[in-house]
Amino acid sequence: MSYTVNTLRNMTRSCEMMRDRVKAVVFKPEDRKVLDITFGPTAAAELLGRTPEALAKAEREGRLSPPKQLGNGRRFYTLEDLTQIRTALNIRPGKLASEDAVVVAVQNFKGGVGKSTITKHFADFLALQGYNVLVIDCDPQASTTTMFDIQPETLIDEEETLGNFLSPRSTFDDFRKSIHDTAWPTIKIVPSSLGLQDAEWDLTATLREGGQAVREGLQRLRIGIESVKKDFDVILLDPPPAMGFLGLNVMAAATGMLIPVPARQLDYLSTIHFMDTIAENIEILEENGTPVDYGFIRIVCSAYSPSKPGEADMWKMMKATYANFLLNQPILASEEIKNATQAFRSIYESKPSAAHSTYNRCRDNLNSVFGEVLSEIQEQWPSKSVSRQSAEMDGSVAA
Ligand SMILES: Nc1ncnc2c1ncn2[C@@H]1O[C@H](COP(=O)(O)OP(=O)(O)OP(=O)(O)O)[C@@H](O)[C@H]1O
Ligand SMILES: [Mg+2]
Repeated sequence: MSYTVNTLRNMTRSCEMMRDRVKAVVFKPEDRKVLDITFGPTAAAELLGRTPEALAKAEREGRLSPPKQLGNGRRFYTLEDLTQIRTALNIRPGKLASEDAVVVAVQNFKGGVGKSTITKHFADFLALQGYNVLVIDCDPQASTTTMFDIQPETLIDEEETLGNFLSPRSTFDDFRKSIHDTAWPTIKIVPSSLGLQDAEWDLTATLREGGQAVREGLQRLRIGIESVKKDFDVILLDPPPAMGFLGLNVMAAATGMLIPVPARQLDYLSTIHFMDTIAENIEILEENGTPVDYGFIRIVCSAYSPSKPGEADMWKMMKATYANFLLNQPILASEEIKNATQAFRSIYESKPSAAHSTYNRCRDNLNSVFGEVLSEIQEQWPSKSVSRQSAEMDGSVAA
């Protein structure tokens, strides 16, 4: 074996040991098993879209069980309590059982633009609002998987992985079995594992066979999602930062697309190229019998620092060029987000790392950005779509 290979293997082993030491410090299994999130009556009522008084009244009338109490008498609710209340009061948001999940790809082929950070935070936001979410980590780097507390290395010997489901060389065919629980009661995940990179190579090899093999290779994820799309309100896809068969699978499976673009010149320029590549790839999918039809495509300005030189100008330029495709609110760059993700968490599951006001500003900002995406998602369900319902009402008035 050559000197170079040995050196690289030694470096890998040393990195793996350091990674395990870092994880042992930041992951405390004893307090990661259960989510440490509770809500006082005001916060709980806000998430439920009710007033604290209305909740208290429902409790007095016996329609709801009384909330748990701390030793000092303060009342609190857990996430499970919120789910039970939504069921008891029949106020669960989301699609009808007969409708399909909206499948959102958080897509940009550029690396480090915030795809995984947005996927994790959006999943947590949706779960807090009462939606059932499936996250599918399609990136062999597995950052989102790690943020949901699954160590990708533990899946090495597992048969029922996304990699095996996607790979034409594997016989594993039951997508549902690749779904894992997370600490969040209403979020499930299909984790990434190291084998996902092999699946990419196996899928690419279908190019040699052409025709049917390529079409099946492009549609694997779509077929898997088809089998579970009634079980979730929203399915989030976190793709790798490169265009290959995994990226094409994500594009073929998505029904809506959210494109993060930081307000930096290089990212902006590479996104122009990305849009072009997306259009080309849609043509490739269509030529291979896999037409796509997105209910929405939205660009979100990610990690925006208005005070950094040039960023405010870039934001203006983005508003001018992307016009109606750009979400009104940018995601602000925040130390809270940086600190939370470094500890493999979202800000929704961590305590403020500095002043409460900074944390609240960050959370309010994310809530309003995600609120915009949620409206796009709701438009995809006939039972929730405001524009479709008003169009139908106009039609019936005219009739
Ligand atoms: N709003 C934000 N404020 C501060 N830091 C952020 C913000 N969004 C993302 N980051 C940081 O930017 C880095 C890159 O983010 P992330 O891993 O989500 O990007 P990505 O597009 O998924 O990258 P990759 O292409 O490698 O998968 C991370 O360290 C993350 O903590
Ligand atoms: Mg990522």
